[in-house]
Amino acid sequence: MTPTLKTDMAERISRISVSSTMKVAAEADRLRREGVDVVDFGAGEPDFPTPDNIKRAAIQAIEQNFTKYTPAGGIVELKKAVCERHTADFGTSYKPANCVISVGGKHVLFNLTQAVIEAGDEVVIPTPYWVTYKDIVNYAGGTCVFVDTDEANGFKLTAAMIEKSLTPRTKMVMINSPTNPSGAVLDREEFEKIFHLTSRRGIYLLTDECYCHFLYDSSPFSIASLPGASNTVLIAGTVSKTYAMTGWRIGFGLTPEHLAGAMNKLQSHSTSNPTSIAQKAALEALTGPQDSVGVMLAEYRRRRDFVVPRLRQIAGVTCNMPDGAFYAYPNISCALGKKGIRTTLDFADRLLKEASVAVVPGEAFGTDRHVRISYATSMAELERGLDRLQKFIENLA
Ligand SMILES: Cc1ncc(COP(=O)(O)O)c(C=O)c1O
Repeated sequence: MTPTLKTDMAERISRISVSSTMKVAAEADRLRREGVDVVDFGAGEPDFPTPDNIKRAAIQAIEQNFTKYTPAGGIVELKKAVCERHTADFGTSYKPANCVISVGGKHVLFNLTQAVIEAGDEVVIPTPYWVTYKDIVNYAGGTCVFVDTDEANGFKLTAAMIEKSLTPRTKMVMINSPTNPSGAVLDREEFEKIFHLTSRRGIYLLTDECYCHFLYDSSPFSIASLPGASNTVLIAGTVSKTYAMTGWRIGFGLTPEHLAGAMNKLQSHSTSNPTSIAQKAALEALTGPQDSVGVMLAEYRRRRDFVVPRLRQIAGVTCNMPDGAFYAYPNISCALGKKGIRTTLDFADRLLKEASVAVVPGEAFGTDRHVRISYATSMAELERGLDRLQKFIENLA
């Protein structure tokens, strides 16, 4: 008798979908390889090269044969450098025992949710949110509770909005400021109120500090610098955007010791250590000269100041001025309902096919009237792409 093959997949894998930002990148890449002249506003990564001092540190690591396994949670020198950088930048006092080095900030977020969330737990996530949050919470068996922010108020989140969404089952609140995709920055006072609210109720406050150095009007700040924060605040950090190192895959978690231990345990049975060479590169990034960060920020500001007014020139399009990160999040609802375009997914799809411009549809971030434009690309590409976008929208009229 032929045995029945157990070909069904585990139920948990059906709770997640392929990252929409990755989908857009793959489609833009496919078209480009077919010879199409695509303008790519989809990629959420700096267009700058990794600074030379960082590259040299990696080359040196190879030459010195630093090419073997390291401890699963990363080398102690790098953990120390992460803690010291965080102290210098934000006045916190983490120790290496609080730190885990992982394969990018995304991996930190995944490990953290796996370590903390289980079936029945609720996780509060402000909308618009970064795509991955929803999927990693679902994968862990938790339930997402979305808190809608309003475009008319600059997508600003308040503590009162969070408070309304808390229940006895809330285990964690996830904050990302500056926010991907809207570029909104949480007011410091509101952030502090959210911290006091969550710590009073014994709820974890996860702060994704991915874009914390890219702020246009305020100084970098970490909620973890408040007294008592190290008990309930969980930090997901990364060198990816700050130092133009997206491909190196180094992120870090700063958490209470028992959680760092839990993440370390999980990581020891999955990826083991992040690449040894990339760890040495990240060490140089965190301990070497920091001026490249300011240079990139100044360039992002120049581009933001071009992109947003240019978007606002397109009839029917509105766009908030982002206070941080490198994304604009225009409202393109003027195009919905025209020539068969019903959703922002349709819009992004048709824009790519008919005008060869890649953007990420708002549906990916939990809103249904926007698209995300990454301005981490050259001024020439921004001009070309925005001209095409304008023509595309005008032709729908
Ligand atoms: C909000 C946010 N958090 C975390 C990450 C993860 O970055 P990485 O895994 O490249 O370090 C990203 C990347 O796009 C992001 O936008």
